[in-house]
Amino acid sequence: MAITTTQLQEQIKLVLEKLKDIPTLPQVYTQVQGFLENPKSSAKNIAETIQSDPAIASKVLKIANSPFYGFPQRITTITHAIVVLGFSSIKNIVLSCSVVELFKSVGETEMFDYKGFWKHCVATGAFSKIIGKNAGIANLEEVFLAGLLHDLGKIVIFKYFPDEAKKINKIIAGGKKTIGQAEKEALGFSHTEISTWLYEKWNLSRLFIEVAMCHHNPAIATHSRVTSDVVHIADILARAMGIGWAGDHSLPNLQESSLNRLRIKGSDFSRLIQQGMAELGRSKIFIDALGSE
Ligand SMILES: [Fe+2]
Ligand SMILES: [Fe+2]
Repeated sequence: MAITTTQLQEQIKLVLEKLKDIPTLPQVYTQVQGFLENPKSSAKNIAETIQSDPAIASKVLKIANSPFYGFPQRITTITHAIVVLGFSSIKNIVLSCSVVELFKSVGETEMFDYKGFWKHCVATGAFSKIIGKNAGIANLEEVFLAGLLHDLGKIVIFKYFPDEAKKINKIIAGGKKTIGQAEKEALGFSHTEISTWLYEKWNLSRLFIEVAMCHHNPAIATHSRVTSDVVHIADILARAMGIGWAGDHSLPNLQESSLNRLRIKGSDFSRLIQQGMAELGRSKIFIDALGSE
């Protein structure tokens, strides 16, 4: 009898719940998230929380002062950053910094090129921002972040399932399968399901959860289909441009329906790629963040 989606999800949950040290976001992110949900919170509360984690605080300032935001004046304190950028941007920056810290804690392994993978994530974020702008999405920062976070389940597999990871690499070396297909063959499920599980655990917004779940098949998205379409195309453009390491040697099929929904024609691609590469240049701070202290 064929296994249903719900049964598969239950099986995945059972496997993942057994993991001992599940990757967690730094406490500072959960605290900032809590403050933002509380109408009585002040900029002072949020600034103090961010300052309590010096690694995150210094990254927040670096990102706030980077060409990604392009502010003409220098932002010198966290309070200043909150005033200039607003609560929502600060929360997004803290989330991206938290993910960088998470990558660092996972560390290097011979089986997976983490730095190359991070570059793929940043490039997908940058292309998402440009394609999202082209599609008329207002919150481009959120679109960037959805792109940045689209594939994180891959690091969970390579960190926590080393035996299956070896099998995955073997299948990929054959050159015919995508990483998602190899993951399913070795593990029974893929990074999309792991990211979904992880982001639910982290209490991230539905947009990030759905994009992580649907970026290879945006037609199944119900809540955030436009952003899923955007990240789907951005992921493939980042791969096609050979930026970083997405985990395999193949190029997934670009869904025609996503292009149609976003009204992207073949003749638009050279412009989108050019703008995407420029955006990637402005997003360099995120790539540097992984290598810096
Ligand atoms: Fe993916
Ligand atoms: Fe990807």
